Amino acid sequence: MVRLGLAARLLAGAMALTSVSGALIAQQIAPSSGAWTDASLSPERRADALLAAMTLEEKAGQVSQQFMFGALEEFVPAVRRGKVGSLLFVTDPAVINRLQKVAVEETRLKVPLLFGYDVIHGFRTIFPVPIANAASWDPAGVERAQGVAAREARSVGIHWAFAPMLDIARDPRWGRIVEGPGEDPFLGSVMAAAQVRGFQGPAIGSPDHLIAGPKHFAGYAAADGGRDYDSVYISDSQLYNVILPPFAAAVRAGAGNVMSAYTDLNDVPAVGNKWLLTDVLRDQMGFQGWVVSDANGTRNQVTQHFARDEADAAVRSISAGNDMEMSFGPAASAETLAASVREGKLPVATLDRAARRILIAKFRMGLFENPYVDEARAAATLADPAHREAAQTAAERSFVLLKNDGALPLRAGAHGKVAVIGALADSRRDMLGPWSFQYDLAETVTVFEGIRDRLGAAASVETAPGVQLKRTVPSIFEALSIPGTAKPEPRWDAGRSKAEFDRAVALATKSDLIVLTLGEAEDMSGEGASRSDLKLPGDQLRLFEAVMATGKPVVVVTMSGRPLELGPVLDRAPAILHIWYGGTRGGTAVARTLFGDVNPGGKLPITWPRSVGQVPIYYAHNTTHGPKDQDKRYWDIPSTPQFVFGYGLSYTSFTVGAPKLDTARLAPGGRITVSTTVVNTGRRAGDEVVQLYIHQRAGRASRPVRELKGFQRVTLQPGERRTLRFELDEASVQYWSSAAKGWVIDPGTFDLWVGNSSEAANHATFTVDGEQRAGRGFR
Ligand code: NOJ
Repeated sequence: MVRLGLAARLLAGAMALTSVSGALIAQQIAPSSGAWTDASLSPERRADALLAAMTLEEKAGQVSQQFMFGALEEFVPAVRRGKVGSLLFVTDPAVINRLQKVAVEETRLKVPLLFGYDVIHGFRTIFPVPIANAASWDPAGVERAQGVAAREARSVGIHWAFAPMLDIARDPRWGRIVEGPGEDPFLGSVMAAAQVRGFQGPAIGSPDHLIAGPKHFAGYAAADGGRDYDSVYISDSQLYNVILPPFAAAVRAGAGNVMSAYTDLNDVPAVGNKWLLTDVLRDQMGFQGWVVSDANGTRNQVTQHFARDEADAAVRSISAGNDMEMSFGPAASAETLAASVREGKLPVATLDRAARRILIAKFRMGLFENPYVDEARAAATLADPAHREAAQTAAERSFVLLKNDGALPLRAGAHGKVAVIGALADSRRDMLGPWSFQYDLAETVTVFEGIRDRLGAAASVETAPGVQLKRTVPSIFEALSIPGTAKPEPRWDAGRSKAEFDRAVALATKSDLIVLTLGEAEDMSGEGASRSDLKLPGDQLRLFEAVMATGKPVVVVTMSGRPLELGPVLDRAPAILHIWYGGTRGGTAVARTLFGDVNPGGKLPITWPRSVGQVPIYYAHNTTHGPKDQDKRYWDIPSTPQFVFGYGLSYTSFTVGAPKLDTARLAPGGRITVSTTVVNTGRRAGDEVVQLYIHQRAGRASRPVRELKGFQRVTLQPGERRTLRFELDEASVQYWSSAAKGWVIDPGTFDLWVGNSSEAANHATFTVDGEQRAGRGFR
């Protein structure tokens, strides 16, 4: 018989406790009140008190989360019976309030619901996609963006964002590369912390903020062949040194939640992987919040031939440390966990541990005191014009100028007739990018609209798609009929293709300037959107050739969530601006950039391959053979990428000076301050991202040729010079060694470079002094 403390018994009020098969059953007598209603107590004490009053079924309900696809009334009975602790995909404040009322007035213990949602890059106001945000190399801007997203989402009653997505991705075939911070653990860690701060504010429960849920823990981006959901095999060394650091940064920043990955990791599904979710996440990183599965992830362990059946799956995930099950229908946890406890298959303490973590989050969010949302205030918040301005700035800071032979910036009025051509030129839905649902198409600005509005009376601006972009299979979102994912643009029938192509070429022929958009439709990256090649889809290359054949000036704007093989476009287009998916104000930002009102300053957060055959290709590789042979690894193409990590041009020019070190010796516990100067040597104001890389020459493992360890984005007027300082300490040189099976610091010589890409050339060396020693690890 499980014994309850006296306090808990008193708290349980009128509840009678009995024991059946070693487990507690609370009779369905509502307690008048309990210590959990006392807001002066800590969330932990309140959770303990509430837990002591709960039945096994109520606890199993708390650890169950359900998608709300369908009518409100269908979900009311489950909420009333306490079968769900959280719902996702509800965004109407009236519906949220209605469901919350059922939870806080009609359930036995009046425990409020937690509402979660995919607030990935905005809510109503859509910001650039996450990989674009990473390309801004602007953590303060990214923090502001997620702050706006949090404000909007919280205003409708959402409490928790399934973001940031922190999967370090080195295979652009994988469609979800668009959702993450790119290929580098240092950049990813900086972006992780910035996003957690943006979502959560100073602390969990801050007004106008959400709980952040970094995902997908861990390794999802390394799916075999870039195929979404496929098996993942990662060495411990890769896991610790590359994949996990952004999650550790998010945990250090106080993230309240983590989502486990769908995938298995070295043959053990992440959701049922105790080593990953408990030993690494909690013991090594110090995570204090609760873990949620990905959609149907718990049940999926049966598909993965790991769990025997749903009941076994629910036991395995909660035992591993996955506290909450996200489920399309009623969760296996809600259906089976109470019985598993009674049958002795699951210690009640394990169920309590998970439910307690979730209840603590509800207390921290203040839901017992303020369960409802102010519907009128929500409308005003969503309408705030400052949010659109913020999205525009974020877009402007995310664009990467890939090529410019002087064609950019354009001069307004220099061309009387401007044509904006391409399937993406005037598509509002595509400008928003994947993982956006609550957008307002009416206020979304396309490239065509942005240029038309920018030029006003200075030119006539027309548009024609020329070609169309279609997936060969519908996206999973369309297939699920998720609101906001239907394509608003009509799909053409085959008969219209030639006529539209000819119309676009005719428009180009009679114009003085062509802005040609090329790339992928938004549903060609994201979940379930992997590709086997990286070429421009559809008939776009033929359109490019035809437009170039007109002999008119052409500038190219590329749109995609991954690097693309641009083929002849790279050689023949005079200028290429890569805009990812720019969000609500993307088109305005593009026009302002093309016409030089703003100067592009984004840098690639991923290596851009020449060919899909080079994948995976990343800058932080090891040297594995003599340098002369480095460039001869393929006989058909160079081994080098098309564009290196950290690359991006500007309309002005910069010079980065030599690195100066205050000391060339890093003593145990010490630090080195590296300073360098950056000068705007051109005639326009502009932004440069100064980057610092290091390399360990010898030690207990082969280390990457260079690794990013610092960066700063600065805005400089023409002729302006700035001195920048970077700090290196033992955390900068530690790594996880497969020889030592732990974090280590190796003494010896290190190279250091500063510059404006991963090809930074200004070099210095320093030494790490002392003995071989252990590193600090994640904390
Ligand atoms: C599936 C995705 O993998 C995950 O990223 C998302 O947050 C959940 N479903 C909820 O939509």
